[in-house]
Amino acid sequence: MDVVNMDGVDVNTSVQVKSFFDSAPALKDATGISNKLTQFIDKNSSLSGSEGPRRVVCVTSGGTTVPLEQRCVRYIDNFSSGHRGATSTEYFLKAGYSVIFLYRRGTCQPYCRSLPDDPLLECFELTNDSSIQVHEPYSEAVKIAISGHHEAVSGGFLLKLPFTTIFEYLQILRLIATSMKNLGPNAMFYSAAAVSDFYVPWESMAIHKIQSASGPLDLRLAQVPKMLLVLRKEWAPTAFCVSFKLETDKEILLEKAGNALKRYKMHAVVANELMTRKEVVILVTDSGQVSVHRENDNSDVESPLIKQLVEKHSSYIKEINT
Ligand code: PMT
Repeated sequence: MDVVNMDGVDVNTSVQVKSFFDSAPALKDATGISNKLTQFIDKNSSLSGSEGPRRVVCVTSGGTTVPLEQRCVRYIDNFSSGHRGATSTEYFLKAGYSVIFLYRRGTCQPYCRSLPDDPLLECFELTNDSSIQVHEPYSEAVKIAISGHHEAVSGGFLLKLPFTTIFEYLQILRLIATSMKNLGPNAMFYSAAAVSDFYVPWESMAIHKIQSASGPLDLRLAQVPKMLLVLRKEWAPTAFCVSFKLETDKEILLEKAGNALKRYKMHAVVANELMTRKEVVILVTDSGQVSVHRENDNSDVESPLIKQLVEKHSSYIKEINT
């Protein structure tokens, strides 16, 4: 039998969460991040859209790393290019949301999807008089990237916060969630990041580079507490919460997505298969399962997905406010 706290989080999870944060290395520039968040949320909570107060969504994107050494040379990584998070951010902004984009350093960024891998060197060239101009084939993509990004950031509608390790990710997520608490049901969490399930606790981690001369390496990894329930119940109890489930087997996928909906009390779970994730996703809610397809080969599955989630969020806000 699970022993449950007043807020609905079982005691075992609470203990694991406390131990994770107590032993995590201090977050660099926590004060700077908190200040940015306060400014961003204060500004956005004073704005209104056509349907009432402006909504704010936290989109998490990319994979977390698990360092194996405190002075880290080696780490375990999680697969995620950040494409889902970056694309979804663009569609949320288009739908009138403000976005806190919590992303893994070096992964795909909003408005940059049509740029080549090394945009600075491939999109620009030197002219004869040594000034810089856009290389013609990329001029449209560069214009879209700069204007989209500039409009969102200078308007104060997009705040980008980077992470690398699981420690940074969860500490920043907690700061974001607690800062967004005052937004009530107008806040949304869209957790597309691939979050590590196992980690090496900081105090039991080697300080220096592990020596290969010592022979085969035995590692004991602790379980990263599932933060979704804590997010939902403690950090942001009135926010609309969407999580993701990735599997390679469709049967397991739908079963696990259904379990996540119940266990973590999510408002929606987006189930995706690795090989088809850019073409189709299944939106799992209390009302059932709906397949969401992209319209054609040149469109994004995130376009109809975000449209459906925005509608569900609107109904949720209405329900809470009546
Ligand atoms: O970035 P792309 O290349 O475009 O790919 C997108 C994606 C496939 C990574 C994305 O669509 C996706 O499915 N993200 C979640 C992948 C995943 O790792 O799922 P999971 O089963 O490990 O986690 C399920 C949920 O639990 C996630 O919302 C995660 O944020 C959360 N979680 C996971 C571990 C943990 N310790 N705590 C958590 O809260």
